[in-house]
Parts: sequence; structure tokens; C-alpha cells
Amino acid sequence: MSDINLEKNILEDKIKGLSDQEIGIKYNVNLKFIEKSIIKNLGINVSNPIKIKSNTCPTKFIKKLSPKDFNLEQNTVWSFKSRGTWATHNGNYRGNWSPYIPRNIILKYSKEQDLVLDYFCGSGTTAVEAKLLNRNFIGIDINENAIKLAQENINFNFLFKTATGTSEVLNSSGISIDLKIGDARELHFIKDNSIDLICSHPPYANIVKYTHNNNNDLSNYEVNDFINEIEKVAIESYRILKNGKYCSILIGDMRKNKNVIPLGFWTIEKFLKAGFTLKELIIKRQHNCKTTGFWYTNSIKYNFLLLAHEYLAVFEKSNDAMIKNHSSEKLNSISYNKINKIKFIKNDNIQQESTTVWIFDKENWLNNTLNNLIKRYGNNNYSIYNNDYNSKKRCELLIYFYDNNFNDFNNNFDNYLEKEGILAIICEDIRLDNDIIFSTPIQIEKHFSKNEKLKIKEIILIQIKDLNNPTKKNQNLNIQHKYIIVYKMA
Ligand SMILES: C[S@@+](CC[C@H](N)C(=O)[O-])C[C@H]1O[C@@H](n2cnc3c(N)ncnc32)[C@H](O)[C@@H]1O
Repeated sequence: MSDINLEKNILEDKIKGLSDQEIGIKYNVNLKFIEKSIIKNLGINVSNPIKIKSNTCPTKFIKKLSPKDFNLEQNTVWSFKSRGTWATHNGNYRGNWSPYIPRNIILKYSKEQDLVLDYFCGSGTTAVEAKLLNRNFIGIDINENAIKLAQENINFNFLFKTATGTSEVLNSSGISIDLKIGDARELHFIKDNSIDLICSHPPYANIVKYTHNNNNDLSNYEVNDFINEIEKVAIESYRILKNGKYCSILIGDMRKNKNVIPLGFWTIEKFLKAGFTLKELIIKRQHNCKTTGFWYTNSIKYNFLLLAHEYLAVFEKSNDAMIKNHSSEKLNSISYNKINKIKFIKNDNIQQESTTVWIFDKENWLNNTLNNLIKRYGNNNYSIYNNDYNSKKRCELLIYFYDNNFNDFNNNFDNYLEKEGILAIICEDIRLDNDIIFSTPIQIEKHFSKNEKLKIKEIILIQIKDLNNPTKKNQNLNIQHKYIIVYKMA
């Protein structure tokens, strides 16, 4: 069968209601091929083509305006087990984000009647939240079919039950929602300093594709080109945002040949280079990765972790030179959580983690972290540099606690490691006196990126739960995570 006929048959079967798995078995194709068939034939990447309606879709009346028992997030690790199905939200558009994310961002960083922008609008999740929360909104997407879908999704009115039992329809009043085809890299129709909040979710290089052969779709770009193009988006964002306002971007990492490509850190660096400072660096947990059976076994067997987190960076546009200088390279004043002598109890029976997010209690995070690293990377031959390091022996695994002092260690680490040895650096995000976040993992990645001998194998997040201390209600989020950057020697 020719590829064209195969693609048509696949689409027909999708419309008949066959699952991706059934289609995969029937035609011996993978998910990427199924996605390609849908995009080429429908012009949009959706998991269920039946749900795509015509343009003349009538206004929907919704009863559920918000999630049940909603509270604003207070910590830096966000986790939404169910993606959220209030209003018109659904998961049909591939790679769309959970509405809990724009809801939190819009509520925390803007007020009613403000102007919110999402320049990677997709199916309009942010648009729906802007409408529900009474914000003006501009949504832009490169794909006209995504804009049509977003238009359909915002075409709703609210339905309320009155005390007498009759129903009443209310329109959200006085706000405008403007959805249009456009390119996030070139927003000439938006004036300088005119947007109150940017809240957006770019494609991640070429992980999920959104269009077929569209040269302006960033989901069709390979990593290095993608990063160059995202820099243009960052520069435009800085131009159009009002001073003192916020821009939030969700971005994840990629895996290639068992190594990690730190797309998240590289994207954040481009926004910092454009002039922004980092207000928050939030870890968004992903729940769609499989942590049992086949995947768990393979993660141990081939020694890789399943990517289970993304980064939600909140940038601030500030012209205040004081703030900028402070957040740049002057780091001497930062107080790191120094770990002097570690009381470490080896535990060979530890249950090994299989994803990139490790969740531990405050009391035992260090022991669990070290035991997990040792079991995975260096059971017989490991050293904890800041603790017991003996320079005479080379080891399989060297664990290093970053405390802003690479002096005695710096680029000589290869003298301490065996061939193909693992260097695991434990580090953290730090809030400076002026409330800005200084992210040491991003600096470490930058520091070692020119070193040909090291390849990043994993970026692991440790979520540290303090069960005794209830979350503080704070203007800033409570930093609840640390990182382990795992390098492998070439
Ligand atoms: C991850 S999706 C956004 C999903 C959206 N948050 C939602 O919930 O539906 C990324 C979107 O970026 C769009 N896109 C890709 N390149 C673009 C560009 N240069 N300018 C604007 N949009 C672009 C894609 O068409 C896709 O809809």
C-alpha cells in the first residue's frame, strides 16, 4: 500500500473510533506515523478527529466555570493529576497544557481587564481561562486550524441555575478575545510596552509536530535552530511587555541517544539574555509517563530515567538596573545550604526511582537521594566529594554538592573519575535578597557545556516535602525542589 493510501486508511479508522494501539497493530506503524497521517489529512494534530467540528458549531452552554476546590499553588512543584475538564477544556489537541497552569498564572500575575497574550495559542486553553477570569486576550498561532479550534473552544456562554430553578445565561462582559494566525517571532501588530501578561507554551523542538511542511512552525525545527528561533520570541516578548510585568513559559527537556538535551535551561537562558529576570522557576510534574512494568524494567536495564517534569519559568521585565546587576554574576553574597559532614547510611535495598522526579520527605531526602544515585551508578566504587573524598582513587560515581565554590574541583574532575564514570552534582535554585531566582543548575550547565568530555545524562528533580511545616502563604512560591545534574564522562 502506498504511504498516501495508508495515511487515508489510518484516518478513516481513527474516525471509526479505533485506538492508536489498534491502528499500530493493524498497519504496523508507530504513533509518529499516525500523528503524521492526521496532520497531513486534517491540518491539525488531534488525538480524536471525530471531535473536530465544523466552523458553524453553535455556542455551547457550560455549567462548570472552574475546578472544584481550587487553591492557588504555593510551592515550586506543581502537579495536576487530572488535567482539568471544566468549561470547554479537553485533551484532544496533542500537547495542550493543563488549564490549571494558565489559571494559576493569570490569577497570580494579572488582574481583571488586563491584556493577556498567548502567542502559541494552540487549541485556546489560555484563551478559555482568560475569558472565564475576565481578562482581555490575544491568541496567536501559526496554524489556521488551531485558531479555528480555539475559536470553537471559546464559543461558550455560562449557564446558571437561579433560586427559582429556571436557567439564566450570562455573557462574560466587557472583554475582548482576539484570535489570529501569526508568528510568535514577529509580532509587529502589537505595540511596545502594551501587554500585561504573557502566558505561553511553545512546541518543544520537533517532539510533537503541529503542521506538515510549514517552515514557520517551530515544531518542525531541530534543536539548535529551535533555540535560535526561540531567542527571537524572547526578544519580541521583552519589547511588547509592560515594564514590571510577567512572562511565563512552559518548556521541557528532550532525550537523545540516552542523554538529555537541556532544552528547558537553554530556552530560559535566551529569555534572560533578552533582558528578563527570573521571578520563579516552577517544576511541573508530568503524569503521563509509565512507571511500572515494561518501562520500569527498561529504565533500570538501560539505565535511564523517564522524563517526568517540565519547567514553568516566570520572567519579569524590569528596567531597574539595580535588580539586574544583582542577579547577574555577583554571587558571593548568596548563602548556599552547605552540607558539611553527611550522616549517610547506605541502604542496598532501596527502591530505585524510575523517573526524573524523586519525591522524599525533608528528614530522609539526602539519604534516599544518595542511596538512589549509588545503586544506579556506582554501587561498588563511589565517592562523596565534599565529604570523604580521597584523591588517590578514581571512582565510578562522584557526587558533588554545589556550594558556589568549584575552586578545588573545577575542571579537574576527570582526574577523579574512571572512564565512563558519572559525576552527579546536587544543586538548587536560590532566591536572592531582591526576590529574584538565581538558578545554579542553569549556571552549572553553562559552565560545563563547553567541556567535550562531559555529556548530560539526566536532570533529576528532588521534591522535598516538609510534612511538619504547612505551606506558607507567600507572595513568592516556597522553593521545594533541588536538582541533580548527572554527567557521564566520554
Ligand atoms: C504546545 S502547543 C500549544 C498548546 C496550547 N497551550 C493549548 O493548550 O492548546 C504549541 C503551538 O505552537 C504553534 N506554533 C508553532 N510555531 C509557531 C510560531 N512560529 N508562531 C506561533 N505559533 C506557533 C503550534 O501550531 C502549536 O499550536
